[in-house]
Amino acid sequence: MLSAQTVSIIKSTVPVLAEHGLEITKTFYSRMFARHPELLNIFNHANQKQGRQQQALANAVYAAAAHIDNIGAILPAVKLIAHKHRSLGIKPEHYPIVGENLLAAIQEVLGDAATPEIIAAWGEAYGFIADAFISIEAEMYAEAEGAEGGWKDFRRFVVDRKQVESDVITSFYLVPEDGGAISSFIPGQYVTVKVNIPGAKNTMLRQYSLSCEPGKPYYRISVKREDGTSNHPDGAVSNYLHETVKVGDVLELSAPAGEFVLDLQDTRPVVLLSGGVGLTPMVSMLNTLATQGGERSVTFLHSALNGNVHALREEVLAAAGRIGQAAKVRFVYEQPSETDRAAGAFDREGRIDAAYLAEEAPKDAVYYICGPVPFMRAMVQALKANGVADESIRYEFFGPAGTLES
Ligand SMILES: Cc1cc2nc3c(=O)[nH]c(=O)nc-3n(C[C@H](O)[C@H](O)[C@H](O)COP(=O)(O)OP(=O)(O)OC[C@H]3O[C@@H](n4cnc5c(N)ncnc54)[C@H](O)[C@@H]3O)c2cc1C
Ligand code: HEM
Repeated sequence: MLSAQTVSIIKSTVPVLAEHGLEITKTFYSRMFARHPELLNIFNHANQKQGRQQQALANAVYAAAAHIDNIGAILPAVKLIAHKHRSLGIKPEHYPIVGENLLAAIQEVLGDAATPEIIAAWGEAYGFIADAFISIEAEMYAEAEGAEGGWKDFRRFVVDRKQVESDVITSFYLVPEDGGAISSFIPGQYVTVKVNIPGAKNTMLRQYSLSCEPGKPYYRISVKREDGTSNHPDGAVSNYLHETVKVGDVLELSAPAGEFVLDLQDTRPVVLLSGGVGLTPMVSMLNTLATQGGERSVTFLHSALNGNVHALREEVLAAAGRIGQAAKVRFVYEQPSETDRAAGAFDREGRIDAAYLAEEAPKDAVYYICGPVPFMRAMVQALKANGVADESIRYEFFGPAGTLES
């Protein structure tokens, strides 16, 4: 337990640290990587470059510190991060490295304002927060390893099939190289894929939602190729998977993780709302509802630029067909092509907005949302404007968690 004095120092310094939050975490990362270059094999360099990871860590440390006398209040947030950590293979021995460099960064940025008393209190508080993460992650590792067909860290999977799903999305069917069973998962969960790209200095880790339903002898991921622009390089892993990885090659996978999951006990209508490649967890959920959902009402709303980039279209229609009357599918294209028009490939031209949601989706439903951040922000705002309760809205970020507040 932390002393009352430590708690009071932490609480009174949180606003100061939060104010310098980004500067501290940036200093922290550059210090840490200079001293522990091996950690560059774990962290996503693109997220670092864009500042997204720094922001996520800064937010988490201050949120934890602000609740230091009642850490239970932020348990859901801690669990979400712990899932990601477990899928990345973060271990207890990594925590002191982060702690030491974070404290040194606080000292460096705040200078004399960070008195020895303040630094000592933050050292204690960090240890307390780290212990909470370590124990939750230990449970998660044990669970991943103990599950039937489960494993602890990374396991080698062979690409059994590679399927082009659209101009930009390709699926990979992955089977374990050892020929053993694979653990089940809850629709909506993701795996971390580890790759060693020839010529790259470090291994790279990326998360991909499982787009198949559980219970198959394989996992399937569906990956969008992230093309670069004049000031952004091509996405490293997605391009490598698309261009170089072929049938028979090996990818290393974590066991499935994540809390953005379909609750099959819930009998309320469910709305699966996706933009672009954000449809991957939704397809897993839809297929699962088709086999296990009974009479439950399901609305699948998907927004894509046009038919050329729209993946898994036939699979979605087939799953909805198996559900029958209780299922509704709507495709919304922002810029349909002439071919899309001729084929009647979409239900609405433009974007999904509040009025369309009110028209097509039941208000008393539970909503699962995934897509680009601006899409998710617009959907959450529209649903709230339509009177949908916060508790009925769930979403997944395809990157470090951020905020959807504007
Ligand atoms: C839980 C979860 C589930 C996910 N599920 C899926 C899924 O089902 N399908 C899917 O396709 N993706 C999914 N993702 C996203 C995926 O993990 C990767 O982020 C994505 O494939 C891009 O990785 P990459 O290595 O190709 O790109 P990266 O190399 O990581 O680059 C990402 C972006 O950053 C830009 N960038 C890179 N370096 C720099 C730089 N130096 N300066 C400025 N910009 C830079 C790139 O141009 C690119 O736009 C998921 C992510 C999460 C967290
Ligand atoms: C108490 C200490 C820690 C806190 C509060 C913390 C917090 C976070 C947060 C908020 C995220 C983003 C999660 C998401 O939304 O995706 C994250 C991701 C991550 N964390 Fe931690 N973390 C801690 C310790 C560690 C340690 C010890 C390591 C290993 C050295 C580590 C490595 C990572 C990595 C590699 C990611 C993913 C980064 C990315 O893909 O960009 N973390 N952490």
